[in-house]
Order: sequence, then C-alpha cells, then structure tokens
Amino acid sequence: MLENKNILIGITGGIAAYKICTLIRLYKKSGANVRVILTPNALNFVTKLTLQTLSNNEVYVDNFDVDNFKPEHISLCDEADIFVIAPATANTISKIANGICDNLLTTTACAFNKPILLAPAMNTNMWNNNFIQENLEKLKNTGYHIVNPGTGFLACGTTGEGRMAEVEDIYDSTVKIFSRKQILKGKKILITAGGTKEMIDPVRYISNCSSGKMGIALADCAYNMGAEVTLVSTFKANKPYKNLVTESAIEMEKAVKENIVNQDCVIMAAAVADYRVKEPAKEKMKKGEKDSLTIELVKNPDILQEISGKGVLAVGFCAESENLIENAKEKIQKKGCDYLVANDISRKDIGFSSDMNEVYILDKKLNITHFERDTKQNIAQRILEKVFEQV
Ligand code: CTP
Repeated sequence: MLENKNILIGITGGIAAYKICTLIRLYKKSGANVRVILTPNALNFVTKLTLQTLSNNEVYVDNFDVDNFKPEHISLCDEADIFVIAPATANTISKIANGICDNLLTTTACAFNKPILLAPAMNTNMWNNNFIQENLEKLKNTGYHIVNPGTGFLACGTTGEGRMAEVEDIYDSTVKIFSRKQILKGKKILITAGGTKEMIDPVRYISNCSSGKMGIALADCAYNMGAEVTLVSTFKANKPYKNLVTESAIEMEKAVKENIVNQDCVIMAAAVADYRVKEPAKEKMKKGEKDSLTIELVKNPDILQEISGKGVLAVGFCAESENLIENAKEKIQKKGCDYLVANDISRKDIGFSSDMNEVYILDKKLNITHFERDTKQNIAQRILEKVFEQV
C-alpha cells in the first residue's frame, strides 16, 4: 500500500530519534519515497548522513539558511502524501497545536494540508501533563493521527508511559491511513492468537509450537482495513488495538465469551490445547525417587464449537499434518463454523513459526478456495476479503 507514496518524516529532539532509521527502512522496503526533516535538536541524536543514506534523499534541517534560501516547507508539502512526525516531543506537539512556526519542521506542519501522523515520545510526567494532553486533544480533534506511546523503560531511567510506539506500529498506522480498501470499517472482529499454556505446576506447562504470527497478521490486517479489533492472545502484542492476554484454554474461553457481544466476527487462529492438567500442583513438583510420572489430563472446552452458529461469523483454523482436506471437511462440519482455514503443519516452508503460509478456505457448503504460498500478511488480507465478501 505504500508503493510510490511520498512520505515526509519529521524527527524532533528525543532519544527515540535513532529508531527512525528502522522506520525509514520499513517505508523504503515497501516502495515508498522518503524525505526527512529534522529539528535542530534532533541533530543531537542522529546524523544527517545516516538519514540521507537510508532515505536516499537530501535531508532538511532549517529554512533560515539565508545564503541559500528556498521555501522548502512549501515544496516538501506539495510533494508529500503524508507527514509522519516521530518522535514528536512535548515541545513540538505544543508548538504545532498552537500554530507556532519556529523551524522548518513546525513551519511545514503548519502548511501541511494532508494527513499528519504523530508518534509522541516523552517522560511519563510530561506525558501526563495537562497542557500536553490538552494540546494532543486539540490536534486529535482537528484530524491529526496519533500513535499513542507505550509503557516501558524510559531513557531517563524510569519506567512508565511515554515511550515512543514501536516503529512497526507507526508503520502500520501509516498503512492504515493509506488503506483505500477500508472494507471492514464499522466491523468488530475478535481474533485469538498463540498457543495456550496449560500449567502442570507453578513453573511448568504444556503448550504447542504456535508462534501466533498468523493471528497477529490477521489482527493487524483487520485493523488496517478499518475494523475495530480485539486481540485475545497468549502473549502481549503492544498494538494500537485492544489486546487481552490470556494463558490457558479456560482463560481464553472466558475472554472470548465476555467480549463476543456486538462482535461481527470471531477468528480462532489460536492453537488451543485440547486437554489441560486435571489438578495442577500448587507448589513446584519434586521428582523425588520417581522414575516415571503420569499426569492426568481432562478435555478443554472447544471454544470455536461453542461460539459457532450463534449469530456471529465464526472462522476457525485447522492445523493438520496429514489428509488436510478430508480432515478439514470433517472439522468444519463437526464444529459448525462458517469458514475453516486449513493449513499443512508438516511442511517446513509454511505454518508454525514461519513468516509464510499456504491455506485452503472451506465454507459451510464445503466449497474450497486455495491461497498459494505467500507472506502471512498477504494471506491474512485474502482470508479477510474472502470471509467478508458476503457480509
Ligand atoms: N479450537 C478451539 N478450542 C479447542 C481446540 C481448538 O476453539 N479446545 C479451535 C482452534 O482455535 C482452531 C480450530 O478449533 O480454530 C481447530 O483447531 P485444531 O487444533 O486444528 O483442531 P482440534 O479441534 O483441536 O482437533 P484435533 O486436534 O483433533 O485435530
């Protein structure tokens, strides 16, 4: 979606400035043309040469070079399709919100009449400052796009909210803004991802090889297509959409059921354990003199089966190591879901842990659509397009 797009990046003076090198690479890899403006303070954190080399373009710092003055802010505005300001410091956010134009970056922001995406980054106390929040609110209300900061270790040595969003999220937000095919706008989709963990004792568990990559690709793609996404995953995803972290099949079942009201679709991409330990030990188990160990397992609820046929579009996955299509046909009939996405987990070049997949989608009438080997992102988009074509 970013092919041939002109992306103007504005870097302000925050330590996260170095991460923008990765962002430039992501944009360039997807075929975008990138130009960079820095505030004078940003130059303390990254060099012009690095950015020039990565963007393959001239890098701009100030418009008050009197010997060689050109109204750069106007030509940069004309050329760019989007202005991504990352990291956006409290200072720059406040200046833009109040129409202050005291360097090339803020002057360009003032003259820019196309989408502007801001990725704030600052110390937690600054982030919580009322004036900063008011300024951000003002910008949001005037149509600025904001990728909220995350929580984590900050350069000032403290831990809290204010850390710039991951560059992948800034990238995803950019894609979302460009996404013309907002076919899922107004739709609510719940997606599960990852392999459940069934505890044996406080330190040991039974799980499986699922990486959760397909579920994440689906959630990212649904979000980029305009859906309101709820991701229920067995790991924390740090995404711009709602993410509930669960561990066991029972916890996942609870999260799905509690959040299913008003959903248009549930996609069960998680590898849910079929069995759990009947009585997990409360304390760490000791091996003692035992030469063998028997653990009794009991069946887990089948989440997909329970939610199918209840008015919400139910999509399941089917991981098989043999007789893929036959098993998938049997599974969709047994579970009663609307669609079943079948993939062959015995192949090393697709599926578990791989970034690629190849799938067959079955509908209730047992019609089969084949999506050839492709990235999980592309497969995710095709699955969503297929599932929603009739809605
Ligand atoms: N699933 C579920 N709850 C379970 C087991 C599986 O909701 N307790 C869902 C999975 O998320 C997936 C689909 O059912 O969408 C099929 O999962 P899969 O592991 O392929 O099949 P199983 O139903 O577990 O059957 P089997 O292991 O016998 O192949």
